[in-house]
Order: sequence, then C-alpha cells, then structure tokens
Amino acid sequence: MSNATSSHPPDAIRKKVTAPAVRARKGREPLTMVTAYDFPGGKVADQAGVDIILVGDSVANVVLGYETTNQVTLADMIHHTAAVARARPRALLVADMPWMTFHVSPEETLRNAGRLVREGGAEAVKLEGGAPRVEMIRKLVSAEIPVMGHIGLTPQSVHAAGGYQVQGRRLEDARLMVEDALALDRAGVFALVLEGVPASLAQAITRRVSVPTIGIGAGPGTDGQVLVMHDMLGLNFGHYPKFVRRYADLSREAVAAIDRWIRDVRRGAFPSEDESYHMIDAAALELIEEPGTDLAIGRR
Ligand code: KIV
Repeated sequence: MSNATSSHPPDAIRKKVTAPAVRARKGREPLTMVTAYDFPGGKVADQAGVDIILVGDSVANVVLGYETTNQVTLADMIHHTAAVARARPRALLVADMPWMTFHVSPEETLRNAGRLVREGGAEAVKLEGGAPRVEMIRKLVSAEIPVMGHIGLTPQSVHAAGGYQVQGRRLEDARLMVEDALALDRAGVFALVLEGVPASLAQAITRRVSVPTIGIGAGPGTDGQVLVMHDMLGLNFGHYPKFVRRYADLSREAVAAIDRWIRDVRRGAFPSEDESYHMIDAAALELIEEPGTDLAIGRR
C-alpha cells in the first residue's frame, strides 16, 4: 500500500509500536491515538500512521447505539478488539476494559485483561479511575500486561458523577486529580489519558508524571492527543463535544454516494456491461433456452 498521501515514513522502515516505545516518547514528538472498532477502522488508522489504536468502550455510543459505555460487555470488547487485531496494525493496540470488569478483585481484573490479550489480541489495556484502581493496576503490571490509565472525565462514572462534566476546575478537585495521576504513575501505567480536564491542570499533571499523558478535551499541553475516530471523521450520529475537530464529513459523503447508486439503479444505469459477468461460450445459451421456456439467463 502506498504511503503517498500520509505523513509517516514508508512501511518498510516503520517499526512496530510497543508499550515501552510509547513510554519512551515522554516529552518528545507528540503521540497520536485514535479509536477503531473493526477491521477497516484498524486498517485506516494504521495506514494514516497513528502511534496507538484504542479499541475504546466508546464503541457503545458510536457503533452499537447505546446511551452509555456501561452497556458494553467484555465479550463485546473482545469481539471488536479481535477484529481490529486482524488488521495487524503497526500501531500499539490497546483495548478498553469495560465497566465492572476491573472493580471486583485484582484476580478477576487479571482474568478479564488476560482474555482481552489472549482472545482479542490486545497488546495493552486501558482502565478508568484513579487511586482506587491502584491495586488492580499493580496486579496487571506484575503479570506483564501493560496498562494505560484514564482519569478526569471518566465516562463509566456517569451515574456517580451525575453526567459528563469537565473535571478538576476547582482547586481541591485539581489536587485530588494530581494525586490520582501520581498514584497511577507509581502503580506502573505506561501512559495516562486525561479526559475533560482544564488545559492548565493537564499541563501541570504532564509535568509531574514520568509517563506520557494523552489528552482528549485537555488542551495542547499533554504529551499526545486522542480522538474518537467517528467524531473526527464526521460519522458520529450523536453529540459532538467542543474539543472535537472534524477532519471529514463522511456521513454526508456516504449518504450522497448511496443516493447516487439508488438513482443509477432506478434509471437502469447500474450495473453496466463492465460490471456484469459474461458467458465464455455464448452458444451454451441454446442449451438453457429450451423452446417453451422463457429463461433469458446471461443475455445482458
Ligand atoms: O472509549 C474511548 O473512546 C476512550 C477515549 C475517549 C480515550 O476512552
């Protein structure tokens, strides 16, 4: 596949991205992470040259049509992660641990993360939450499963938080978030997502932790950025938060393309001769055009 239109080096000299390689990017060239949920999504993200592909539990909202991410199951996440893994991305493949798969005990957390790795092909997992998750993260890290943290606006906390609000605007909340970030750093995460956080706080956390921060709605001062693919491509039929920049309007293009096809079919302009199969032996038509039948197979 040609790389002519993308901004990264040719495939031959692009190395597989690993969790330690992401960890080593702290303070260097900004990291890019985008979500993908299936084989074509994985191919598209990888051909564009992102560093990390996240099979986010946002699959709930943007692909499966659920109201919240809490509806997504471990089986859903394994299914979608495996589809992306079959694209064999050069990018690091991270799978989200869905709600209630890392809350009960470290042992259960490890079993669930193990399934995302073994059955889904994930190379790392991401889980939401701060200090209360430290025990679970340590268990995964000790089993050599790389873990990405996620603090700030954590969508799985929607019911406890009473909605989706920017987090850490007040000093006391900001202090707690810094403590959470430091606790996750000490627990051994290799990167940390900061979602829905004031830009100045995200920058302060970025300075304090030893691992790269990856921001979404967290301003420009993080070590990297992440966006939901369906948001940036204009394929989300729900709400677009203010931090989303739309780089394409694919839903409009898709509707227009299918509309053109409908018109072509209706006016007899699809399929053409070139889009049809033809018989090798035209004489064979006589065998099937028995007198008295009105079969007209292969005429077009
Ligand atoms: O599920 C997801 O898409 C995410 C990103 C927004 C970071 O967690």
